[in-house]
Amino acid sequence: MSPRRPRRGGRGSGGGRRSAAARPKRRGGGRPQDHFGDLAKQQGYPARAVFKLEEIDRRLKLLRRGQRVLDLGAAPGSWCLYASKQVGDEGSVLGVDLKEITIAPPANVRFEQRDLGESENISGIGQFDVVLSDMAPSTSGMRHRDQYLSYELYCMALSVCDQTLAPGGSFVGKIFQGAEFPDARKATAERFEKVRIFKPEASRDESYEVFLVGLGKRAPAPRDPTPLQG
Ligand SMILES: C[S@@+](CC[C@H](N)C(=O)[O-])C[C@H]1O[C@@H](n2cnc3c(N)ncnc32)[C@H](O)[C@@H]1O
Repeated sequence: MSPRRPRRGGRGSGGGRRSAAARPKRRGGGRPQDHFGDLAKQQGYPARAVFKLEEIDRRLKLLRRGQRVLDLGAAPGSWCLYASKQVGDEGSVLGVDLKEITIAPPANVRFEQRDLGESENISGIGQFDVVLSDMAPSTSGMRHRDQYLSYELYCMALSVCDQTLAPGGSFVGKIFQGAEFPDARKATAERFEKVRIFKPEASRDESYEVFLVGLGKRAPAPRDPTPLQG
């Protein structure tokens, strides 16, 4: 099944729930939400979102030295910085966002400003071992609309995987859980050997974002053989 892509993707940011090593308890068993923001600042990351990827990576061991990583919806750059450390000097990270990314990139990181909703074909961008997508629309407060826009962005990310992810590669994609979630999960399962669902600790309590992780990209299906003539 190809991911259903009814309209152009939304823009902006958003989402949330939680991860990370040191996590102070909040009364009632939760964690103070700004804990992750403070921790991100202390560790030199521009956004608390880094702890979502860190948790997924810690649990699944996705990112390894020497890998080529494509990060979609990369601004302000936390995931790129984290991936850069994990893949090391032998690896590389390309971060793409419709917004300009203003942090100074480490030597193995490159940023590109582009709207993925406007460039249908990005096969020229290269081949990657891991594709990450933390893309999120600007939230309107209209829950179903936001969920739908998030689903569109998720489908875009899957389409980028179709074009750029090497067979056997891994994918992490954010989606706001809603009516389209089963379709997103099905489209992911068609492309990957295994699918996992994560709600990281660093996501905000009120957020309905989840991350679908695809492990082991299936090789593209062989084309139908040309029918014999006569
Ligand atoms: C939650 S933020 C990403 C945070 C990032 N992972 C980090 O750790 O710094 C979501 C990003 O998705 C980007 N985005 C949304 N729609 C996009 C599109 N059509 N093309 C490219 N980027 C997009 C937004 O501009 C926003 O910067």
